[in-house]
Amino acid sequence: MARPLGEDGGMHLIVTCAVGLEDLLRGDLQQAGARAVVSGEGELTVTVDEIDVVRSNPMVDRVAMSWSPGVPLEDAEKLCRAAGFDGDVAFRVHEKDSSVRDGIVRAVGHQTGWRNEPGDWQVNLVPGTNRAEIGPLAWAARFGAMERLPATTPPSVAAGVLRLAKLQPGMALLDPCGGVGTIPIVDAIGRDGRGLIVDLSPESIALARNNIRTFGLKDRVFAEEGDATYLDLADASVDRVVSDVPFGKRIGSNQENDTLYPGLVRELGRVLTQDGRAVVITDDKRRFADVVARDRSLKVVKETALRYNGVTPTAFSLTRVRARGR
Ligand SMILES: C[S@@+](CC[C@H](N)C(=O)[O-])C[C@H]1O[C@@H](n2cnc3c(N)ncnc32)[C@H](O)[C@@H]1O
Repeated sequence: MARPLGEDGGMHLIVTCAVGLEDLLRGDLQQAGARAVVSGEGELTVTVDEIDVVRSNPMVDRVAMSWSPGVPLEDAEKLCRAAGFDGDVAFRVHEKDSSVRDGIVRAVGHQTGWRNEPGDWQVNLVPGTNRAEIGPLAWAARFGAMERLPATTPPSVAAGVLRLAKLQPGMALLDPCGGVGTIPIVDAIGRDGRGLIVDLSPESIALARNNIRTFGLKDRVFAEEGDATYLDLADASVDRVVSDVPFGKRIGSNQENDTLYPGLVRELGRVLTQDGRAVVITDDKRRFADVVARDRSLKVVKETALRYNGVTPTAFSLTRVRARGR
């Protein structure tokens, strides 16, 4: 397959992920044979011989290549083809100044023969950052689009946080504040195992069921209305919990978290297996850490600071506190 060639024969890409996940993503890409360097917050420069190394990694949010006005765009088209797009390429120019934008639109149209289609593009040219963003390599184009709500966890963030949970094939995963189901669905795309989404909101559960159907996961991922503080699950029945819980800002309130967090942590201590592990994302960090310390059934073993979409939560990794002498 034709592919963009650097002097070293590889494809040079700029890959974005949530801030805080760069090292995890770099490790994954290097293990898969790429050369990857963290080049900024939430950004890696990556050289790969095969696009699938990047395409198959769910922590990768968006993919771009270096570009500035006047630079040829054959490589951008080759990347669209390598990503499986076989139609006529359309582009947009992300530039506020309309005279600059119109000049670039004319020049690129002339140079490439591409259509300028600001609402439905494969290549997004961003002169301000010297990038050409490749639409067919964005997360939703690679894995599928989910129905979302305002507090939906970005799927690329879900993928990173799932990595912290150390899930193995066959394990059962629970998200007790699961919303539209992003976390168990992203997990089930890449792992053989069951997932359960619980949420108080009937609207979220209806969307989660649509998403499960869209991704063809109805034999392995289930969604049920329920309360995270009173789970309808047996003791020690869940291997892993991964959840993006209400921060008390956009969803719920700090006051509600005073009830939600102790009930949630108590239930995690009850339903997790002896070797269970939970990863909980929250921006109400002090409150959550205090609740875990007071509950004493679980302990925080790792804190991963994240930043995406204007929020700065921490992913708390939790395991059981083992009784002394056992
Ligand atoms: C940050 S959102 C979850 C985002 C989710 N990961 C997604 O991608 O949609 C938090 C969710 O917690 C739910 N929630 C709040 N209190 C709850 C409770 N007591 N039990 C279960 N779900 C609850 C909300 O309805 C909301 O969907």
